This record gives sequence, structure tokens and C-alpha cells, in this order.
Amino acid sequence: MQQPALVVSDLSFSYPDKSDVLRDVSLEILPGERVGLIGPNGAGKTTLFLAICGVLKPNAGEIVLFGKPVTNGNFRPEIGMVFQNSDDQLFCPSTRDDVAFGPQNLGLSKEDVAARVTESLTTTGALELADRPPHHLSGGEKRMVSIAGVLAMRPRMVVYDEPNASLDIRSRRRLIRFLQTSHETFLIASHDLELVLEVCDRVVLMDEGRIVANGNPRETMCDAALMEAHGLEKPHSLIPHMEPHHGCA
Ligand SMILES: Nc1ncnc2c1ncn2[C@@H]1O[C@H](COP(=O)(O)OP(=O)(O)OP(=O)(O)O)[C@@H](O)[C@H]1O
Ligand SMILES: [Mg+2]
Repeated sequence: MQQPALVVSDLSFSYPDKSDVLRDVSLEILPGERVGLIGPNGAGKTTLFLAICGVLKPNAGEIVLFGKPVTNGNFRPEIGMVFQNSDDQLFCPSTRDDVAFGPQNLGLSKEDVAARVTESLTTTGALELADRPPHHLSGGEKRMVSIAGVLAMRPRMVVYDEPNASLDIRSRRRLIRFLQTSHETFLIASHDLELVLEVCDRVVLMDEGRIVANGNPRETMCDAALMEAHGLEKPHSLIPHMEPHHGCA
């Protein structure tokens, strides 16, 4: 049987001043799966991601990544996280240095680091930004550079936290195309349900720290009562139209 990429079992987490942020969360992701994580503000999506990456220590439960338990504070190169705010991720004087930071810390040679920087900036369509300072880039450009920085580590799994926040239509479309062709297993938290429909094979719905649905994105999001009970709406593209306008010339 195929080894799962990620197994989260009965995970619970409280912040010192906010309890029960994650409550008995169990989730399994197979290699190659693209899973969307949806849910209202404060549902616990970012907290779950930080626990999966070993940044937060759960109060109970277990996280196993590619067959090995995740322990708090221990860096696991198999997983990379793209943060909700790119400014939390980019801090070097040039884009090239920022993307090189991770591979350098893996102890790679100068040549290998340079090759990875070029490769990941090319993959994300951001090679022309290599010599620009990250703090001069637009929001969409920063996003693609922070994705490049994660990909340069060659993680087997990537967690994307709201990667389309503040992107314009063209940048959002570029991100969708990039995600559709990406080879890594991924988990993506997003309020953009249409994006989740376009890029994910499965969706997990979270509310108040619990997983309340886990299944096919279209079927789950077509359940208007379920969506509304958890502060969401059935996406426009799944609502039958009197006058079809999707796919019009
Ligand atoms: N550092 C923290 N200390 C205390 N409480 C926190 C902290 N970070 C988040 N919380 C609380 O934990 C809950 C879950 O927050 P989290 O950021 O995981 O939600 P989310 O699902 O990612 O929301 P959003 O859709 O707004 O990004 C919220 O009630 C939030 O106020
Ligand atoms: Mg969040």
C-alpha cells in the first residue's frame, strides 16, 4: 500500500489565551493529492498548517509526515509552507538571495544553489525579478517569489496559506495555472472557492477547530445547507443558471 504523505491523528491545540483552536483533527493525504482547506475566518486553518510544519506543538494527537512523526521545532525539508503574508517570508536584499536562502541552509554547493534558484524562479515565472529587491515587488510578484523560495528546497509537500490573497485577475490566473501543473502534493487554504474547484481533487471543510466535511470539492460545495451552516456560500459556478453564461464567447 502507498505510504501517505501526511497523517494527522486526533490533533488538538490551544493558544495560551485561546483554547480549543484545533479539536480532534484527523486527516490523511496521499502522495500527489491536491487538497483544499476551506472554512470561515478563525476556523483554525493557519494554526493547523503551523502544527503540520512543526512550528506549533499540539496539546494532543500526532502528525506523521512521509512515515516519520513531526516533532516541534525540528525542521523537515520534505514540507514547505507559503505564508499568508509574503512579507513574513521575504527578507533578503535581492530576490535571488531570498530564493537561495533555503538551499544554502541545506548545505548545497554554490553551483547547486544557483541552479535551484534559476529553476524555481523559472517555474513560477519570476526569473526576471531575480535582481530586484523583494520589498520593491508588487503583492503578486512577492507571492510568486515566496513560492519559488519554497520550491527551491524541493519539498515533497507544500502547504499554501491563502496564496491568492491580494492577487489581481492575471496574477490569480497565473497562480492557478502554476498549481494545476505543479508536481508536489499540496494542501491549500483559501477563501477563493472557485480556485479550490479549479485546482483541488479533494476539499476539507473546517469550522471552530473541527473538520466538518472531507470529500469531492464539487459535491461538498454543492451542499448549500452545509456551506451556509459554516459561514460559506455555494460557489457561483455551481449554481444552475437560467441563462448560461459560463463558457460564452
Ligand atoms: N498567536 C495566537 N494567539 C492566540 N490566538 C490565536 C493566535 N493565532 C490565532 N489565534 C486564534 O485562533 C483561532 C484560529 O486562527 P487561525 O489563524 O488558525 O484561523 P484561520 O482559519 O486561518 O482564519 P483566516 O481564514 O482568517 O486566515 C482564531 O480564533 C484566532 O483568533
Ligand atoms: Mg489563516
